[in-house]
Amino acid sequence: MKVLVTGANGMLGRDVVAAADAEHHEVAAFGRDELDITNAGSVKRAFERELPRVVVNCAAFTAVDDAQSNEIEATRINGEAAGIVAAAAAEVNAKVFYPSSDYVFDGLKGEPYVESDATNPVGAYGRSKLAGEIATAEANPRHAIVRTSWLYGLHGRNFVETMLTLAQRQNEVLVVRDQIGCPTYTRQLADAMVHLFDYETLGVMHIAGADHCAWYDFAIEIFRQSQLDVKVLSATTDMLDRPAPRPPFSALMTEREDIPVLPRWDHGLHAYLVARAERTTAEHAALVEESGDPGNPGNADDPGNPGETIEVQEANQL
Ligand SMILES: NC(=O)c1ccc[n+]([C@@H]2O[C@H](COP(=O)([O-])OP(=O)(O)OC[C@H]3O[C@@H](n4cnc5c(N)ncnc54)[C@H](OP(=O)(O)O)[C@@H]3O)[C@@H](O)[C@H]2O)c1
Repeated sequence: MKVLVTGANGMLGRDVVAAADAEHHEVAAFGRDELDITNAGSVKRAFERELPRVVVNCAAFTAVDDAQSNEIEATRINGEAAGIVAAAAAEVNAKVFYPSSDYVFDGLKGEPYVESDATNPVGAYGRSKLAGEIATAEANPRHAIVRTSWLYGLHGRNFVETMLTLAQRQNEVLVVRDQIGCPTYTRQLADAMVHLFDYETLGVMHIAGADHCAWYDFAIEIFRQSQLDVKVLSATTDMLDRPAPRPPFSALMTEREDIPVLPRWDHGLHAYLVARAERTTAEHAALVEESGDPGNPGNADDPGNPGETIEVQEANQL
């Protein structure tokens, strides 16, 4: 099946391309440099040339705090351009996937959100993603709006990598305990979306790592599974004074029976750490072959300040 991916160099985009390749789909992958989704003419021409059956719109403005001071630009990309992509897909009879976010909810429900719950974003990023959901649905009846959350993957800055980097130079980190959500490994989300390519499963759907935790618990689990001796100190959101408000409890679950359910969030983390270790081994082997020097790519030269405590809440759009 011919699949077109926008934002193909992003963290999720790269895993969607890999997952579609693995299932032997024919993939047309467009990074931002090859296709700017705010340019309606370029989008239309690319879609008419490629004639995809499925479009996965991974292009997005994902910096939550920046969106708060630049809502017009965030809405232009996440909202208006999502409509451009969905309309161009409709014109060539393609189904469109729009990854959306738990941040379309206000986080006050106190239990996991299902698809039929009312949206009410508390910040600009969430508003821009909700605008994109609406624009996508209006422009193309064959839409899958995939709400997900707290993404981490091999091809982007993310919370897991931030924790592992900090662990190289300090033995304590400070992480918020009053934001609850569903950490989700991008490759598992990408596999789930690719699985849905073959079905007319449409509408809003929640696909995220099963069960939920606080960022604080996530950090503890990252260090536990990585066998790193780092103490996690708990903070509250108001201590960190970030520009964008965040929903306090934005865990997702599904009320649908026709969509894939991902593994528990801590099992997703395990799969990620395994994939990460395999990549490091492969990179190391390639380095040795190239230079003939066994070296040690995992050794940081700078031991840093082991007593330092750094406040960490997020690494990407969290
Ligand atoms: N990350 C999370 O925790 C999270 C959680 C829930 C939902 N989501 C959603 O999941 C999707 C993927 O997120 P991600 O984490 O993979 O984001 P990402 O790594 O930031 O990837 C987004 C990609 O879109 C590109 N892009 C930005 N503006 C564009 C434009 N006008 N035209 C074409 N490409 C453009 C970016 O390019 P540049 O880097 O060059 O700007 C980047 O490569 C997004 O829809 C996001 O809202 C993410």
